Amino acid sequence: MGAQSLAVACGALALCLALARASNPGFVVRITQAGLDYAHQHGIAALEKELAQLKLPDLSGDFRIWHVGKVQYEISRLSLSSFHLPYSQISLVPDVGLQVSISNAFAELDGNWRIKMNLIRGYGSFDLRVENVYIKIQLRLGSDTSGRPTIDTSACTTRISSVRVHFSGRFGWLYNLFYKAIESRFRKALESKVCERVSKSVRSELQPYVQTLPVTAKIDAIAGIDYSLVAPPTATAQSLDVDLKGEFFSLANRSTVPFLPLALALPPDHDRMVYFGVSSYFFNTASFVYHAAGALVFEITNSVIPKGIEFRLDTSTFSAFIPQLEEMYPHMEMKVTLSTPSAPFLNIGPDGLSLKPVVDIQTYAILPNSTLAPLFLLSLTGNVSAVIDVKSGYIVGDLKVGRLKLSLKHSDVGTFQVLMLQSIMNVLASNILLPRLNERLAEGFPLPLPDRIQLSNILVGFHQNFLLLGADVQYQPQGLR
Ligand SMILES: *[C@@H]1O[C@H](CO)[C@@H](O)[C@H](O)[C@H]1NC(C)=O
Ligand SMILES: *[C@@H]1O[C@H](CO)[C@@H](O)[C@H](O)[C@H]1NC(C)=O
Ligand SMILES: *[C@@H]1O[C@H](CO)[C@@H](O)[C@H](O)[C@H]1NC(C)=O
Repeated sequence: MGAQSLAVACGALALCLALARASNPGFVVRITQAGLDYAHQHGIAALEKELAQLKLPDLSGDFRIWHVGKVQYEISRLSLSSFHLPYSQISLVPDVGLQVSISNAFAELDGNWRIKMNLIRGYGSFDLRVENVYIKIQLRLGSDTSGRPTIDTSACTTRISSVRVHFSGRFGWLYNLFYKAIESRFRKALESKVCERVSKSVRSELQPYVQTLPVTAKIDAIAGIDYSLVAPPTATAQSLDVDLKGEFFSLANRSTVPFLPLALALPPDHDRMVYFGVSSYFFNTASFVYHAAGALVFEITNSVIPKGIEFRLDTSTFSAFIPQLEEMYPHMEMKVTLSTPSAPFLNIGPDGLSLKPVVDIQTYAILPNSTLAPLFLLSLTGNVSAVIDVKSGYIVGDLKVGRLKLSLKHSDVGTFQVLMLQSIMNVLASNILLPRLNERLAEGFPLPLPDRIQLSNILVGFHQNFLLLGADVQYQPQGLR
């Protein structure tokens, strides 16, 4: 699309938003080589078990031996007793996917043989050792229509270069027969069974597992997080990157947020198995959704003031600074409503995470008949910083408030010195409002993790417009939670 036609298309703003939305993720999961190695280790252990259960078809046929005549043979009950995959590695194939290369694998099998030749008949058992088995598996990653990851086998080859057989009994010429007539058929059968089993395991074990990634995480009564993939995962030479939408949405009324995610340029860090790039977009959609749902309105009365805080919310307290309250509303309890006129916008930079919310503080006197009489409306601004951590797979936060600045927007009780209210408002904000917010933030928001994954060695870093979380991964096998 040329610049001109793009401009035309973008005349329709919705389309333009859709185009930009399709390109930038709000959340990136990066799996490094260390992470792939860890996954590989578990995958190989599982594959070893799978391959040890291989069943091979019976082989029968005839073979002409000079001077002797036609020999009819049958090989049956071929089964594996073990399959060992001692050397293997997983590597990234840029723009393609992943490749697993297994070398020098070996397997042990046994089975029965039976032959017929003129009047001679014979049967017995044998065992086999298959060595120098090379298996190469290519895995292709994608995403389905619901934005869940997919994985399948795009190519698989198995090559067996050595088969050693041992027959019970004294039939020396059987070896001859085996290597001349049977070995190559047997090898082909085993080679194709190995790849068949690999594809089947990827389809029936790995694919359902990667699909446990919670692409829509419901987090509370108000919001969910959309972690659907915006594109198929991409392999680079260093990592596997998975771009996710990474946006909060209202459970009641999903609507489009009026801003877009900026591009995330993740640094080339690779000490940890996995990194999460969390765009400021992610946090700002949270702010937008909770604000739109009215969840950022806080009502404070005496009944919600925590025990241990020496503070009475009544006109007697305030009349020390606003003497006229004493006459207008003597000895009445008060109510304070804190709300944000617009969703607070959060900023992430190398110094950390901060926001400068504007908070409206409306105060009321509660009349004896329970009617609320508005007193005054203040506007409060301040610098808030956040400490971020990861606990049990959740991003948790803790807000700290800097100095607050108050200004009067409207008064129903005449003039007064706003500056005098500073200490009262500090108590309201720091000791009453903040603990409530921090209680919610301490519960946190879930990271997009498939089943049975635990994170450790957490690292938190700040970059322009995004947060970088690094972690190592532990897979908890089923039943060991
Ligand atoms: C849903 O949200 C949109 C935009 O935020 C708003 O205009 C609309 O009234 C809301 N609908 C309901 C049922 O809340
Ligand atoms: C409550 O009392 C106030 C003042 O005494 C009066 O103006 C108001 O009308 C009363 N409201 C109701 C609902 O009775
Ligand atoms: C907030 O921080 C900015 C600088 O980042 C500073 O200029 C401003 O005065 C601070 N505001 C308050 C209320 O401390």
